Amino acid sequence: MENLIDFVNRLQIACTALGDYSGGNNSLSSLWEALPSVAVVGGQSSGKSSVLESIVGRDFLPRGSGIVTRRPLVLQLHKTENGTEEYAEFLHLTNKKFTDFSLVRKEIQDETDRITGKNKQISPVPIHLSIFSPNVVNLTLIDLPGLTKVAVEGQPETIAEDIESMVRSYVAKPNCLILAVSPANQDIATSDAIKLAKEVDPEGDRTFGVLTKLDLMDKGTNALDVIEGRSYRLQHPWVGIVNRSQADINKSVDMMVARRKEREYFETSPDYGHLAAKMGSEYLAKLLSKLLESIIRKRIPNILALITKSIEELERELDRLGRPVAIDAGAQLYTILGMCRAFEKIFKEHLD
Ligand code: GDP
Ligand code: NA
Ligand code: MG
Repeated sequence: MENLIDFVNRLQIACTALGDYSGGNNSLSSLWEALPSVAVVGGQSSGKSSVLESIVGRDFLPRGSGIVTRRPLVLQLHKTENGTEEYAEFLHLTNKKFTDFSLVRKEIQDETDRITGKNKQISPVPIHLSIFSPNVVNLTLIDLPGLTKVAVEGQPETIAEDIESMVRSYVAKPNCLILAVSPANQDIATSDAIKLAKEVDPEGDRTFGVLTKLDLMDKGTNALDVIEGRSYRLQHPWVGIVNRSQADINKSVDMMVARRKEREYFETSPDYGHLAAKMGSEYLAKLLSKLLESIIRKRIPNILALITKSIEELERELDRLGRPVAIDAGAQLYTILGMCRAFEKIFKEHLD
């Protein structure tokens, strides 16, 4: 049996396609709203993109100081059979397979600039990227621009609020799991990620505290107060992470080597050794995938109802256009209708 997360991934793409056509005012956009996802939030340079790369185990995101992520990146991970080749595909470049991940990074940069200009502007229009690999878990992750306090040269004065409202539009969705990324070398009380997560998820039941940069803390200090939930308590335990440093990135330290070093860091740490099994990016990826799957399972009746409603709407729309309709809009509607019917069947099976 195929994986539920994968179906939701495909459904998400179908919704996006119809969203473009319909202007977003129908059941399919409610369906999109209802689909579970995981969004990564945090201050600029807190390590969001690095966490995503560690989860994927590939080096493919633009990274560095300042505002690098300027459009939401909807990243869908599809686990494939062992031994198969890893590749990536963008929704805006259909039928182009990327096997060189440095070209994926370049395409993200170019596609960002295409919409925003090169001028540190931001845009809420997401980039959709799928990665097919035997080394990933099925998961949909959204990388978002970093929360910031001040505008820099060339940015509008409202940039801080603009970013915050963009990020909020994702994490306010009740089905969105929030990866709240905070760096360990800053006071948790000042964390932008925790501040926003607290507002949209006061119970903390869909927030995951992720503490990066443990390796950069002052000698003689540790983050146990945070990780063990004494500084700020969440329903889910905090996960500590050690990503590649900028020096590692400059030296092109391999991601698999970095994963191994991270594991060793926790296993040999006098402070965190007792928690090693529940630390690190591999653990985080597995945890999220399991949770996403169980949330989807719980939401199947709801998702199914929305699919059925979408089918009815699509049929009405096609009737209005008069069948058989010409290519373009009509053909697109037929395609999406076909997909919805297929999804309806699949989700019904999962309901039994
Ligand atoms: P983002 O702006 O939140 O997406 O942050 P990035 O992932 O781009 O990381 C910003 C900088 O911090 C990069 O130079 C990373 O190498 C560095 N960095 C991120 N996480 C860690 C970490 O756990 N340890 C160390 N030493 N550096 C990190
Ligand atoms: Na950055
Ligand atoms: Mg980033």
